[in-house]
Amino acid sequence: MIKKELALSKEALCRHLGELCAEIDVCVHDRIDSTNTEAKRMIARGHDRLSLIAAEEQSGGRGRMGRSFYSPGGTGAYFSILYRPTVPVDTAVTVTCAASVAVLRAIRTLTGKTCGIKWVNDLYLDQKKVCGILTECQSLGDSTYVIVGIGINISTSFEKTELSPIAGSLGFPRLSPSELIAAVTRELLPMLKSPDSAWLEEYRCCSCVLGKRISYLQNGEMREALALAIDGNGALIVRCDDGREERLFSGEISLKMQ
Ligand code: BTN
Repeated sequence: MIKKELALSKEALCRHLGELCAEIDVCVHDRIDSTNTEAKRMIARGHDRLSLIAAEEQSGGRGRMGRSFYSPGGTGAYFSILYRPTVPVDTAVTVTCAASVAVLRAIRTLTGKTCGIKWVNDLYLDQKKVCGILTECQSLGDSTYVIVGIGINISTSFEKTELSPIAGSLGFPRLSPSELIAAVTRELLPMLKSPDSAWLEEYRCCSCVLGKRISYLQNGEMREALALAIDGNGALIVRCDDGREERLFSGEISLKMQ
């Protein structure tokens, strides 16, 4: 449901999280460099509780491949979930796929819109990227931590930026960031706790990549292939033009014009 609660607040976030609030530490910042970087600082300070770190604005939002993530105030949902895995995390790709499905479900529930997922971490609406996910793993002593950083453009305007051909927004300026962040968190936490990955079928159904020709960079070489399937870990299986099949665990793919 769309409400008039436009500023991010801890009070609203906790209200939307309901009883989940008892098991997760919630930290809300007006402005911060990056919620993922803040999660790393928390780990370094010895914090090891399940945490949700959210910000109204990020001055140094980070994306994959060393890119930045445009995070102006009052127009998006920028947050990270910090947790210690209780089920084995084979690859960060699985966590990123789970987060994609959680965001997809939350957006569908709150706006009625269904996004397409571009492997591995981007959600698209009307051919424009509306959400990016950055999963990072961190070790300290014997402990492993996972940070799932999610940025959703609720009403961000890219008009005067170089991102305008590729980036877009949900187009719901009255959607509360607190409600959206809580909805994603409520979807994602059970997936992170369970070894069951039945949600991968939903990921496959909403993939805008399967069956398409793609290109990707491997060992410094640009390759072209057909995207065949997504395996049980979330890896992308492709058939190269020379007939070989490859399994991609990371990196970035581009869709070829058909
Ligand atoms: C990408 O598109 O390459 C991933 C973008 C991830 C952005 C989110 S916003 C919240 C969290 N904090 C960051 O600095 N990055 C992630």
